[in-house]
Amino acid sequence: MPRRIFVTTALPYANGSFHIGHIMEYIQADIWVRFQRMQGHEVHFVCADDAHGAPIMLKAQAEGITPQQLVARIAAERPKYLAGFHIGFDNWHSTDSPENTELSQDIYRKLKAAGLIYTKSIEQFYDPVQGMFLADRYIKGDCPKCGAKDQYGDACENCSSVYAPTDLKNPYSTLSGAAPVLKSSEHYFFRLSDPKCVAFLRQWVNEPGRLQSQVANKAREWLEGEGEKALGDWDISRDAPYFGIPIPDAPGKYFYVWLDAPIGYLASFKNYCTRKGIDFEKFLADTDTEQIHFIGKDIIYFHTLFWPATLKFAGYKVPDHVYVHGFINVSGEKMSKSRGTGISPLRYLDVGMNPEWLRYYIAAKLSSNVEDIDFNPEDFMARVNSDLVGKYVNIASRAASFLSKYFNGDLKYAGDTVPLADGARASAFLVRESYESREFGKAIREAMAIADRINQSFDASQPWILAKDPAKHDELQDVCSRALHGFKLLSVLLAPVLPELAERAAKELFGFDRSFLWSDAESLPSKIRPYQHLMTRVDPKQLDALFEIEKEPAKVTASTPHPASPATEAAQPTAAPATISIDDFAKIDLRTARIIKAEHVEGADKLLKLTLDLGTDTRTVFAGIKSAYDPAKLEGRLTVVVANLAPRKMKFGLSQGMVLAASGEGSGLYLLSPDSGAVPGMRVK
Ligand code: MSP
Ligand code: ZN
Repeated sequence: MPRRIFVTTALPYANGSFHIGHIMEYIQADIWVRFQRMQGHEVHFVCADDAHGAPIMLKAQAEGITPQQLVARIAAERPKYLAGFHIGFDNWHSTDSPENTELSQDIYRKLKAAGLIYTKSIEQFYDPVQGMFLADRYIKGDCPKCGAKDQYGDACENCSSVYAPTDLKNPYSTLSGAAPVLKSSEHYFFRLSDPKCVAFLRQWVNEPGRLQSQVANKAREWLEGEGEKALGDWDISRDAPYFGIPIPDAPGKYFYVWLDAPIGYLASFKNYCTRKGIDFEKFLADTDTEQIHFIGKDIIYFHTLFWPATLKFAGYKVPDHVYVHGFINVSGEKMSKSRGTGISPLRYLDVGMNPEWLRYYIAAKLSSNVEDIDFNPEDFMARVNSDLVGKYVNIASRAASFLSKYFNGDLKYAGDTVPLADGARASAFLVRESYESREFGKAIREAMAIADRINQSFDASQPWILAKDPAKHDELQDVCSRALHGFKLLSVLLAPVLPELAERAAKELFGFDRSFLWSDAESLPSKIRPYQHLMTRVDPKQLDALFEIEKEPAKVTASTPHPASPATEAAQPTAAPATISIDDFAKIDLRTARIIKAEHVEGADKLLKLTLDLGTDTRTVFAGIKSAYDPAKLEGRLTVVVANLAPRKMKFGLSQGMVLAASGEGSGLYLLSPDSGAVPGMRVK
């Protein structure tokens, strides 16, 4: 019986581009989805941008655009990443959509009718300048315990004490710098602590096989907490100004973004159903339909408590499974955009790296556990080059050439072929179990063990010697046919991970008019077409290029000039979250410097090497300004340098600071220079 499955990945916030963590999540889900489709199951795989919330509103405000414009800009860049990594969502939608507004308001009304919504007045910090209530992350102040400055509203980084934002001494809004005032307002709550909610969640969480055991344990811990840790009700409203969905019959109140975000799963699916002529309500009402969410470990709470309860008491289908993955780190370090680590997925594609290498590498590292995985460049290269290309792809390139050269591409097997098909069926069965349970690493290991066996027996037969003796050509044909049968088996088994390569193998080599299905694993190929090169190895230069961007010092870019019309200026009194205190600014030691020497750097396409006189000392700085300046014209001129930037070891030498240049969206780069009269070493403040 074919299964009918509705699959989602978490909806990424629409205030930034995809990072490698997003891509990893999509690759995991995409592999599982492709695997299910190869079994003949009906799978609908959707995602959307998570558009609402204060950070997106504030970011748009800082840029002088509307949140809708910001979201549209981010949405516009999604397809090139998704297509680039062969991620086959059926639909990509937005939580800022008519479907989501309608569904969210409908679900809210049903929860209200079920007696699970109530209102309560709460007191909260309010920024009188910005004119809005402040989430904890927008409040800083002195630690109430140790007095450390600039601590966040929940915990002190200096003494680790935990407190409420209202406990901070000298609190200030990080948006405007103003002292926040306490103000009360009416909030809407979802009564998660209601006995019927708790009873339902207990049953949902404890259903055998529903959640990974680590995840079920976590959910139980929250569910069974007592005293201070008891399950609290959920504040689902935010006051205007807020970018969100209005709460029905509650002027000035919006749904908290985490209420409408998961509903976005349904909104995207509904949007897709409308396009495809699928009956959305009927699909979800069908008890045989499976609903599965792939998410990361940081959002378990929302997906195992709020989300199932929301659905249940609004009368919707509840999720069958929530599959949680760990985080991807890069060379053992947590990725952080601000520290410039991580891998840019776009750069990965731009430097010409094959997306299927990454899919393979990530698959090889994934298990069904909530474990972090690491992207390590050396390990990446080793696995791709020696396993993927060396063991798997090479089988075809070696065996196919004999078959084309001596046998016109005809395959012929000597003796009984039943064991060959049986062996393939057994392997396919084993690997299928691994994919089904998201043990992708295990699936890859099994496939590589098969590849090893094929290579060993191929080598042991010494086909290059058989080829020299026409009397042994029957044997040669058998040896190569078996190798290609193995290659076809492996191509089927790896197709969920390597969809493009497998499709090319199916069509170009084996002459199929469609992509592989799982059931193709056992059949014996009888003819091949001439082998065409399928996959290259990773070139270490590509990895250098991938990480290069991290090694080049970032140029400081003057704030993008936005032609601020009087209207937008009035509406945006402050440039939101970017505000820093004068103390923060004072930490940057800006100095005037004279460029005494400027040179090209061999092998660097963006950098110039500058020797700077700072009055008291001489420094070397690598600056990414080659595109705009002829070194000879720079010598002698004054500029501004960040003198206390930690020195950075680069491929080309040590960079001891950074020069400042302005740039905008387009091309063009303009080095800063002080007015005449300034001398090297002067402080810029
Ligand atoms: N918008 C919410 C999700 C709403 S779902 C109804 C959100 N967005 S996110 O952009 O921050 O994260 C999207 C997904 O990426 C989450 O599943 C998150 O766990 C995952 N990842 C974020 N960083 C990650 C890594 N470093 N590694 C792997 N996955 C990571 O949360
Ligand atoms: Zn402290």
